[in-house]
Amino acid sequence: MQHSIGVIGLGVMGRNLALNMASHQEEVAIYNYTRDLTDDLVAHDEGLPLHPYYDIEAFVQSLARPRKIFMMVTAGSAIDSVIESLLPHLETGDIIMDGGNSHFLDTERRFDELQRHGIEYIGVGVSGGEVGARTGPAIMPGGSKEAYEHVAPILTKIAAHVEGDPCCVYIGPKGAGHFVKMVHNGIEYADMQLIAEAYSFLRFRLGLDVTEVADIFAEWNEGELKSYLIEITADILRKTDDETGQPLIDVILDQAGQKGTGKWTSLQAIDNGIASSIITEALFARYLSAIKEERVAASAVLKGPEDLSTLERDAWVERIRQALYMGKVAAYAQGFTQYRTSSELYDWNLRLEEIALIFRGGCIIRADFLNVISEAFKNDANLSNLMLAPFFAEKVQAYQESLRHVVAEGALSGFALPSLSTSLTYYDSYRTANSNANMLQAQRDYFGAHTYARTDREGIFHTDWQ
Ligand code: 6PG
Repeated sequence: MQHSIGVIGLGVMGRNLALNMASHQEEVAIYNYTRDLTDDLVAHDEGLPLHPYYDIEAFVQSLARPRKIFMMVTAGSAIDSVIESLLPHLETGDIIMDGGNSHFLDTERRFDELQRHGIEYIGVGVSGGEVGARTGPAIMPGGSKEAYEHVAPILTKIAAHVEGDPCCVYIGPKGAGHFVKMVHNGIEYADMQLIAEAYSFLRFRLGLDVTEVADIFAEWNEGELKSYLIEITADILRKTDDETGQPLIDVILDQAGQKGTGKWTSLQAIDNGIASSIITEALFARYLSAIKEERVAASAVLKGPEDLSTLERDAWVERIRQALYMGKVAAYAQGFTQYRTSSELYDWNLRLEEIALIFRGGCIIRADFLNVISEAFKNDANLSNLMLAPFFAEKVQAYQESLRHVVAEGALSGFALPSLSTSLTYYDSYRTANSNANMLQAQRDYFGAHTYARTDREGIFHTDWQ
């Protein structure tokens, strides 16, 4: 019997995706470059229909045509090597899927190369971490629509489901799926950083103990902030270190890692004139966190304010909640603006309403308010900024005062709140009808004769300033 799909790359994500497929009655051929991972998966196959292969040709030949091969291999040159080793054994119409966090431009290059061989290539964004991969991730496939139709029955089956709908939808041509996943990760960086700032304000500025802060996050998770990241933050704060008996969070070194997707999001935004400041500030916060030794040395030299005033607990907890919600709205607004602008740029026809819908389940940024985001784009597919949707316009109007208080208090008391303060700056810049950029234009014209446009008539002008 020929198998319905093959999975290459049996690290944590590939292994769990293979198990997920097999638990949905797919006959799954599995292959890994080193046999240890294949053997280990077979030994723990939960009685599911997984079929191990130790030779790539035999693996390919075992698949029903058009062959469907799902790669879950570390992004980068390893993907090209796997494609090279598959190519001699494939036939016209076969389909390779890349489920890793590949750069969307690499996916476009691979798509074009494989088209020349008659092979279909689908860049599949997969979000949800190792648990999501096993139980149902959010899936963002990009490539040809025809090729997607062949794999849709499997991908939609293994995806998370919300209210009966799969968190998997055809995104668009070529690299569109990996692009959507990349910006998802950028939003994830901002969301995580905003939460970290709210946490540190509660704990170290308001002076609440860690259990109290855990309770606050758990309570927030019952309301409009309900989301996976808020939920796990409450869990994290309740975890005690086995060795020291301290809260585990307190023994974790404050140096953030990153694998590159957040940086790619910022770079793509910068390259294309998209203001993605909250996401980028979250990235810079990780960079600054990484220079721990320098920060420790600087803390002995550079002093902040002393004698901080006491803040009234309940009022400030609510202010922080509102500030966090508004920061999240602004961050998602930037991410969705990046989708809209890039969709026009690359002619992808991204459907923002559907992207928001598939983010409701499985992925790391899943949150209740994605329903409202989806609704906003359903009501107006050309919405230029999420903050202008009536629901969110009203919300940010109501919550801005809290964000202002929190950012101002952070500044006065010397607590760095990079993403929260950038959210406020973004809000205020975006709503400014007459900005100070006229001064920039005047300066440019003064020193470099770069010319300027006028407010009162058409044309290009230059002044002899001296
Ligand atoms: C997901 C995640 C995942 C990502 C990790 C780590 O959606 O499941 O985004 O794809 O690899 O979150 O990312 P960083 O190491 O860059 O923080």
